[in-house]
Amino acid sequence: MSNRGTFGSKLAIVLATAGSAVGLGNIWRFPFMTGQNGGAAFILIYFACVFLLGIPGMVNEFLVGRHAQTNAARAYGQIGGRGWRVIGYLGILTSTIILGFYAVVAGWCLQYLFASIAGQLDGDPTYVVTYFKTFSSDPVKPCLWGVGFVLITHVVVSQGVEKGIERASKLLMPLLLVLLLILVVASCMLPGAVKGVEFLLKPDFSKVSSKVFLEALGQAFFSLSLGTACLCTYASYFKRDTNLLKSATQIALLDSFIAILAGLMIFPAAFSVGVQPDSGPSLIFITLPNVFREAFSAMPVVGYVISILFYALLVFAALTSTISMHEIGTVFFHEELKLTRHRAAWILTVICSVIAVFCSLSVGAYSNLQLFGMSLLDFCDFLTAQLMLPTGAFLTSILMGWVANRQLVKDEFTNGGTLRETFFRTWLFSVRYIVPLCIVLIFLHQFGIL
Ligand code: PFF
Repeated sequence: MSNRGTFGSKLAIVLATAGSAVGLGNIWRFPFMTGQNGGAAFILIYFACVFLLGIPGMVNEFLVGRHAQTNAARAYGQIGGRGWRVIGYLGILTSTIILGFYAVVAGWCLQYLFASIAGQLDGDPTYVVTYFKTFSSDPVKPCLWGVGFVLITHVVVSQGVEKGIERASKLLMPLLLVLLLILVVASCMLPGAVKGVEFLLKPDFSKVSSKVFLEALGQAFFSLSLGTACLCTYASYFKRDTNLLKSATQIALLDSFIAILAGLMIFPAAFSVGVQPDSGPSLIFITLPNVFREAFSAMPVVGYVISILFYALLVFAALTSTISMHEIGTVFFHEELKLTRHRAAWILTVICSVIAVFCSLSVGAYSNLQLFGMSLLDFCDFLTAQLMLPTGAFLTSILMGWVANRQLVKDEFTNGGTLRETFFRTWLFSVRYIVPLCIVLIFLHQFGIL
């Protein structure tokens, strides 16, 4: 495996992994989950999940990946024995399903990018809602955008890790951050925006039901790309002297910061123009065009340019995430089936495109495409974020906390003894007890056993 390549610099590592973490999970999923689960109380539980369970879980995956320097399935097998490869297989399956439905939403972003260039999103709040409904229920267009997005991802991934991923993530992350900050200020200055800020900052615990815990857990893992073997795959390209705990903490902080900014961009504007906070997956699409129009009404050209820039950056943020999902399966097929990277990438592209088409139709032209009372898109989202990701993270914790060779884990954690051991015991304690116990308790609670 000596020719697998590594990331060029330490900054590139953090940026590329952060590029995987930061995406539609922060800017699309976090606001609508927060809106559906009552606001600030959900956010508090979400933070608890990120810092208590997310960071130790990220370190877990990093340790496995960097130690083994191979695809996810083989990596888990190397740590725990053949049977543990199952975590890798589960991760590959999960990321493939996620890529399928994620591409649909990324496709909506592409449509919005072109619509904003053409000036088609300019209208009152009712028009904006109608625009979204009309577009998303078209039988052909959203499918084409979704498949198109998978194809764009395919092109980047089949070029290889160094060229594709590094170049994309280095450039755009800081730009996205700046633009988000501008939009937060613009949104908070709209009339009546205070109610939206209150919604985000004043917890109302009466809204906390049993499902809120699982949804916060799922959101935290989804947003950190945790439980899919994505972090394990990326860590297989890390350098030996990367401080894994530090990198995980930096990424989790950045990821949470961007999610909060997205909330502060969406809710003040939503309250200002009368969009319901619990509007679900359409929330950002029916809120944002109002921000661009209302907040920049005195300078329409600025609003026009900012809207284009924003959708372009959103598309790129989504792309750095879809690249990471695609990479997991591509490396696996490449290394296990001995296919060329190109062929391996095609297998994934075809599977994900099929999932994308069905998911897209299920929220549009064929709303009878349902499973367990949910549209196929919602079902895939629920299945992966709330069931498969926590299961992947749970199994990895058991592996690293209870099964793996302690000395090997310690060596990997401390980079062969060159880093201080202070945090090793705390991390080990949380991986052995806190992470698995919390996940089990949340599952039991959700399914009414507790
Ligand atoms: N973390 C990404 C986001 O927040 O948009 C989504 C994601 C990427 C999930 C990679 C899973 C994954 F393997």
